[in-house]
Amino acid sequence: KIFQPFSTMYEFDSGALNPQGKLISRRLSDMSSMYQDSEAVQALLNDNPLIYEVYNVEVPENEEHIQHCTTILYPGKVGSEFFMTKGHYHEIINRAEIYFCLKGKGLLIMQTKEGEFSSLEMEPGTIAYVPPYWAHRTVNTGDETFVFFAAYPGDAGHDYGLIETEGFVKAVMEQAEKYALVANPSYRK
Ligand code: 6PG
Ligand code: NI
Repeated sequence: KIFQPFSTMYEFDSGALNPQGKLISRRLSDMSSMYQDSEAVQALLNDNPLIYEVYNVEVPENEEHIQHCTTILYPGKVGSEFFMTKGHYHEIINRAEIYFCLKGKGLLIMQTKEGEFSSLEMEPGTIAYVPPYWAHRTVNTGDETFVFFAAYPGDAGHDYGLIETEGFVKAVMEQAEKYALVANPSYRK
């Protein structure tokens, strides 16, 4: 039988989806080595704050389908580094993605395996394109929740390994009530 059409409701206040689908929650302990300031990490690990949640609409993971989800990235900092997602390449690296910002403000940072780096500011209404071959991470640079919708090919998959070992080219730090992109001293070290 052919796959049946269906719809999902976006909840404007929370950023959640209904039905909820597969929910991913990540706390500081799930990504503690990704932040620059290890003393700040240690000081926060007892509380182990919730950093982000992803509400996934469940569709088959193959090229016929389009995965789609919302990410709710909470406001906060580890030292002076803003809360962020882990970041990944797609497992099939030439799979692109579209992000549509619905709430709050943030930064979408991207890099290639060749070390090229790019960043885009996101605010409600911003539609950002992550081209094939670019790793992507989002950062909440505001003081309210940052929410965006994402859509990408069903077979893309996620590769976290390279970002876990290499890190991102730049870190997003608070500076003078705004943000600064600072070279990451441990990138590829
Ligand atoms: C994806 C999207 C996006 C992303 C979340 C959480 O490919 O699924 O880029 O939904 O997964 O924003 O970020 P991490 O997957 O990097 O933890
Ligand atoms: Ni992605």
